[in-house]
Amino acid sequence: MKIRVESGSLTGISGDLLVVGLFAGVKKPTGATAVADQALGGMISRLIKDGEIDGKADKITVIHCPGKLKVRKVAVLGLGKQDKFDLEAGRRAAAALIKKAQEIKAGRVVTIVHGCGCGDLDPEEAAKALVEGAILGLYKFAGYAKDNDEPQFAVKELVLVDHDRTKLGAISRGAKLGLIIAEAENHARDLVNEPSNRMTPVRFAELARKIARINGLKFTVLDPKKAGMEALWAVAKGSNQPPRLVALEYRGDPRSKAKIALIGKGITFDSGGISLKPSKNMDEMKSDMAGAAAVLGVMSLLSDLKPKKNVLGVIPLTENMPSGHATKPGDVVSSLAGYTIEVTNTDAEGRMILADAITYAKKRGATKLIDVATLTGGCIVALGDAATAVIGNDQALIDRVIAAGNNCGQKMWQLPLYDEYKEALKSKIADLKNTSGTGKASPSSGAAFLAKFVGETAWAHLDIAGTAFLNKGRGYLPEGATGVPVRTFIELLRS
Ligand code: BES
Ligand code: ZN
Ligand code: ZN
Repeated sequence: MKIRVESGSLTGISGDLLVVGLFAGVKKPTGATAVADQALGGMISRLIKDGEIDGKADKITVIHCPGKLKVRKVAVLGLGKQDKFDLEAGRRAAAALIKKAQEIKAGRVVTIVHGCGCGDLDPEEAAKALVEGAILGLYKFAGYAKDNDEPQFAVKELVLVDHDRTKLGAISRGAKLGLIIAEAENHARDLVNEPSNRMTPVRFAELARKIARINGLKFTVLDPKKAGMEALWAVAKGSNQPPRLVALEYRGDPRSKAKIALIGKGITFDSGGISLKPSKNMDEMKSDMAGAAAVLGVMSLLSDLKPKKNVLGVIPLTENMPSGHATKPGDVVSSLAGYTIEVTNTDAEGRMILADAITYAKKRGATKLIDVATLTGGCIVALGDAATAVIGNDQALIDRVIAAGNNCGQKMWQLPLYDEYKEALKSKIADLKNTSGTGKASPSSGAAFLAKFVGETAWAHLDIAGTAFLNKGRGYLPEGATGVPVRTFIELLRS
């Protein structure tokens, strides 16, 4: 789908569908909606009076008789209550409108940037949110089913129109940004939705190499066993798929020593290992590399976005499988940092591979660490699929991550990192154990394990176990992979 920005009057513009908005409770249309109403001979006003159009959020009424307008159909998009209409509502509304356009086979869709004419949203941010919602809302994993081969209708063009020429620059900038961010997020979704037999560690590493080459990023790929990453290898050695650790580096501020590392858990399939998971829903564990996918998605657009920051993406990749070669509960292994780990549960594998990835990032000079992982089922118990858990050792960094998430519609909620959780990981035979064995407060316990490897460096840990993969889609989030937290990371790097 192409995105275009045009200025001009609504009455002169042509296309298959013109979309205007209406806030809930509004009895008489204003602005662009009033212009459309007039050209339609008062049709919108009449339908409001009849109660057919009520402005309820994301409700769309299609009017098939365009009156004096040069478009084939007009849609009135409900925007909900005006005082509740924010960028996230704009994203959801855009997804609703583009899905409707797809359904009624409108090839060229013209829309107002809702909320920045009659509302008080910044035009650039509103256009960005609109385009994000539309591109994310149209996402569908292609899959491999043969009977899905019939050509699907695709909206060809989304035109953002404003009669005020002075806003066009801002709208264009926002639209361009929204497009690249949403495409990176959709790319991350694709990586996660891909079955684990096709998205192996080696294949992921090849894709990362390609992305690094295209974007001029410094690229490193390591064999974790040879590199002394014994904690990562302890997870990998039960599998027939060789593990990898990849790093991609973007230097937007070469004179500065500051370097932010984004570290993504890349378990391409988590069976639990010898501590085998129950078979129900085990197929969803192909999504256990959602952190890795998000980091790669972000790295892929930095050369377009050009933030003045140095960013290191670190992605540890492996399967977690049971076999005669697998690590067993009770085994003691070492790590890149030199700490010995008693593996009390082989299903707590994410923290093992992240431990070595964190140590590696520190060796590469990272001054700030943010890791992202589908780390614990306990995170889903606590927050469901509504919010990502954030835990860390640096409140200023945590606050920035939470604010970035809130600014872009990806909710974050802080959980604690009390000393009690660290105490509970003391082992009688090693420097620490990988689980407390109590099953209590697992998101915080997992973070307490990582904290040992983080040391004093500023750090935030994001547990996306609940938010990365949905059983049921909503708004611009599809069933399956969501692409969380690509937008949050971009927001953070932009600020
Ligand atoms: N990948 C899982 C966590 C997970 C579960 C993500 C469900 C998404 C949906 C992780 O590796 C895991 O198995 N964690 C264990 C840790 C426990 C053994 C301390 C868990 O949460 O049960
Ligand atoms: Zn696991
Ligand atoms: Zn896992």
